[in-house]
Amino acid sequence: MRSLIDILDLSITELDELMNTAIDIEQHPERYRSACAGKKLATLFFEPSTRTRLSFEAAMYELGGNVLTMSGESSSTTKGESIADTAKVISCYADIIAIRHPKEGSALVAAKNARIPIINAGDGGHCHPTQTLADLLTIRREKGRFEFLTVGLCGDLKYGRTVHSLIEALSRYEGIRFVLISPKELRLPEYVKTEIIEKNGLSFSEVSSLEDALPELDLLYMTRIQRERFDSLETYERLKDSYILTPEKLTLAREDCCILHPLPRVNEISVAVDDDPRACYFKQVENGKRMRMALILKLLREAEKPEKEKLGEGFLLEGRHCLNPRCISHTEQELPSLFKKTAGGVCRCVWCESAVG
Ligand code: NCD
Repeated sequence: MRSLIDILDLSITELDELMNTAIDIEQHPERYRSACAGKKLATLFFEPSTRTRLSFEAAMYELGGNVLTMSGESSSTTKGESIADTAKVISCYADIIAIRHPKEGSALVAAKNARIPIINAGDGGHCHPTQTLADLLTIRREKGRFEFLTVGLCGDLKYGRTVHSLIEALSRYEGIRFVLISPKELRLPEYVKTEIIEKNGLSFSEVSSLEDALPELDLLYMTRIQRERFDSLETYERLKDSYILTPEKLTLAREDCCILHPLPRVNEISVAVDDDPRACYFKQVENGKRMRMALILKLLREAEKPEKEKLGEGFLLEGRHCLNPRCISHTEQELPSLFKKTAGGVCRCVWCESAVG
């Protein structure tokens, strides 16, 4: 069953096709008004969400389909039900599932157990591929290309799942240069630097000053400091206002710099920046809904084709378990600790992708 767990599950050609469909939906909404008639999307959100959940639901309604919705607090998972069982059960009611869960690897567990396509709407601090779909369409429309861009990513690069997925996606294009702007405590995880950026022959620099980086950027991707992922509230309080983009700071940026943010924003972009023509974060929201429409259409069509791939294959390592305390393998009932060897020779947990020492 074809699912979207990681942005690399989609080829560059497929991404282009999804973007073309999203633009066609915008230009000819009437052609899509009953494209998903009789189909049901289940949205399972075990973490707070405004735009991701509502944009999935709006997307399905605009395709003429229906929505079944459930939030973490009201579900049987509060009684101890596993993700695997939840996915098997919902497969009897719906045609496709969008799931958000605080544990890393949770969407993959759902995909291994469901009989219908799964869309990862955010698994802890790991991935958020559908936000990347919104980001990519916005970049294509604002910059007209993905190649040879200097991309600044600013804020919480450690826990920011939108950043991890966007870097994965952009690393497949030629001439991308990343400027990673964060306090040292919130730097990008090592595996993203070595196995994604460097493996693709791209370069990056790590800096702590937004002002120093601004003049060279084609894109600036601001992010929220992810309070809910911190072990210590004190560290969060110390780091929360590390970066605040203001109109004064923006005078340092290029005339054609494109400012993105997955939202919600807390303090990291002052409201006065919203009127600047370089601010594109509300356009991202609009693009996100149409990309989700295109994705739902694609996955529902592919669900009708015979199955090819096997998700989450890996091997057991005698007595070894994933070391990431936020990994789904520590809480999901009887989920085996499975590992895979990456191209760089590193052994990683199949579910959350952290290295096993
Ligand atoms: C992001 C997320 O949930 O990771 N929000 C979103 O889906 N647009 C970013 C965030 O919460 O900071």
